[in-house]
Amino acid sequence: MKTFKIAVIAGDGIGPEVIDEGIKVLNKTAELDSGFRFDFTYFPWGCEFYAKHGKMMDDNGIEQLKEFDAIYLGAVGFPGVPDHVSLWELLLKIRKSFDQYVNIRPIKLLKGAHLPLVDVNREDINMLFIRENSEGEYAGAGDWLFKGQENEVVLQNSVFSRKGTERIIRYAFETAKREGRSLTSISKANALNYSMVFWDQVFEEVSRDYPEVETASYLVDAAAMLMIKDPKRFEVVVTSNLFGDILTDLGAALAGGIGLAAGANINPERHYPSMFEPIHGSAPDIAGQGLANPLASIWSASQMLDFFGCEDYGKTVLNAIEQLLLEQQVLTPDMGGTASTAEVGDRVVEIVASLAKK
Ligand SMILES: NC(=O)c1ccc[n+]([C@@H]2O[C@H](COP(=O)([O-])OP(=O)(O)OC[C@H]3O[C@@H](n4cnc5c(N)ncnc54)[C@H](O)[C@@H]3O)[C@@H](O)[C@H]2O)c1
Repeated sequence: MKTFKIAVIAGDGIGPEVIDEGIKVLNKTAELDSGFRFDFTYFPWGCEFYAKHGKMMDDNGIEQLKEFDAIYLGAVGFPGVPDHVSLWELLLKIRKSFDQYVNIRPIKLLKGAHLPLVDVNREDINMLFIRENSEGEYAGAGDWLFKGQENEVVLQNSVFSRKGTERIIRYAFETAKREGRSLTSISKANALNYSMVFWDQVFEEVSRDYPEVETASYLVDAAAMLMIKDPKRFEVVVTSNLFGDILTDLGAALAGGIGLAAGANINPERHYPSMFEPIHGSAPDIAGQGLANPLASIWSASQMLDFFGCEDYGKTVLNAIEQLLLEQQVLTPDMGGTASTAEVGDRVVEIVASLAKK
């Protein structure tokens, strides 16, 4: 029997609440299949750890995580710790140290989820965003000169290496080819006259290796508008770190809200563990009250199953989320229901069990 070793960083706020439900679902799939099991190891890292130890994770945290097959992350960030500290010293540190250069965010409006747009069909919202996750605008390069003085200057540099740009675009082409879907590149070459001109050039170069993939290219501002006006144009999408971050939150709003949006941080070569997480934050306003929607976290568990080659179970979990939405019985308050976080997780587990029997 295969054992998948998972490092759990439940994190802050609603992180532990939603991760508990994802783990329930993962354990149910393992119970249904004699071929694999999960071994979860919990790490208490996050803002509470920071308050006690002055750091977000152990000094050798990256070393400790290396031996795992995957990392399952809740959310990090809490009032009292500056957000740039919690983000850079944990989440971004893991993404960068483990070269998780692909961020995959499905933006698919499941049946039963609220369709927020008029004049758009539900089926039209079915995009797969592939966001560059290791450099670009989030490279952390820059300087802060003459701090606090009248002539203060802040520099935040974007980094677009040939290797980094080419590999993400190639990954997106491979995905589009495998799925038989079109690929759209989103950039901003009219204003960003170095980085995005280069991005467009690399997209054009790599596209020559994939004549079978239909392509499109939009400026980010136009893309934001078209995602609302005509979302069916977007199938597989590749874009930079910053643009991907912003557009996938827009995508989350199109596809049922932040409570349903999942993300995977992948090291495709599997030299290091990949990391699976809901894209929402720690939601301090609702933490500890059983109000958090666990479906994003459960969806990211389904992405983890896919990554492990258990695609049948990944699909079953996604179908279970869809069935729960169609039933409209057991939903958290953000989706108009009255159920608790745990009740939603329990219902997904029941549906997974019933779907697996069929
Ligand atoms: N990946 C991450 O760890 C991550 C991502 C974003 C923000 N953050 C951090 O989280 C903290 C709060 O950030 P924020 O308020 O901007 O974003 P947030 O996503 O935590 O919350 C935004 C709004 O959405 C609601 N919400 C979020 N997730 C929900 C869920 N699962 N169910 C129901 N409602 C949900 C919240 O109640 C809040 O009203 C900050 O410290 C921020 O840095 C972390």
